[in-house]
Amino acid sequence: MSINIKTPEEIEKMRIAGRLAADVLHMIKPYVQPGITTNELDQICHDYIVNEQQAIPAPLNYRGFPKSICTSINHQVCHGIPSDKALKKGDIVNIDITVIKDEFHGDTSKMFYLGDPGIKARRISEIAHECLLLGIEQVKPGGHMGDIGQAIQTHAESKNCSVVREYCGHGIGRVFHEDPQVLHYGKANTGIVMETGMIFTIEPMINAGKRHVKLLNDQWTVVTKDHSLSAQWEHTILVTDTGYEVLTLRPGDEI
Ligand code: MF3
Ligand code: CO
Ligand code: CO
Repeated sequence: MSINIKTPEEIEKMRIAGRLAADVLHMIKPYVQPGITTNELDQICHDYIVNEQQAIPAPLNYRGFPKSICTSINHQVCHGIPSDKALKKGDIVNIDITVIKDEFHGDTSKMFYLGDPGIKARRISEIAHECLLLGIEQVKPGGHMGDIGQAIQTHAESKNCSVVREYCGHGIGRVFHEDPQVLHYGKANTGIVMETGMIFTIEPMINAGKRHVKLLNDQWTVVTKDHSLSAQWEHTILVTDTGYEVLTLRPGDEI
């Protein structure tokens, strides 16, 4: 297990990559409307990343992933593959963007509402967002990775929701997924100690029903076994001397 501590020069490049990833989520927002297909969203993001940002969409061909973004709808947990199916009123969708700029990765995702989703869909999206924020608030040098997991798990379970265990946050830099693993469940004061200069994602997947998941035959799309709704939000986080810096803030938007 070797966690690389980023140098000031690397951190500056990660700030740029993080901002670009966030900008894609900001750019795509007006397009996320009932009737659009996730393939169309993929195409718009792809063209923006490649042509406007002169960056690389990291998912494309990553371990064989066929598209440039992940789109996970309703009971899909993560890694949904864009398709020709249209989004419809009442859906919730996670759009997950990872860009590579100047060799460094920025990784972020958020939930979008199509029209006016029902109370249950809004609730799971909000709880997953609260889980992300509570996890982020635990980040500081000297803290333990388990502090993040406990904060997220405690909140999710207090709302009778569950935390997906099979997928986790991750160190990130020149490599898309590097050490450490960032579990979204666990016990405070356990696990690796955070140090200034570490960069990792926090990206809790929270289910309205049971935590168990199933991989579809496409070998990518993860869904809830009980078909309950699921939601996820993700930021790339730098550990600073005083706490944390969110590298994937969307200008003028919530964290
Ligand atoms: N962006 C995802 C993450 O947060 C990873 C997607 S891998 C892909 O780690 F191949 F599905 F794109
Ligand atoms: Co990630
Ligand atoms: Co991601």
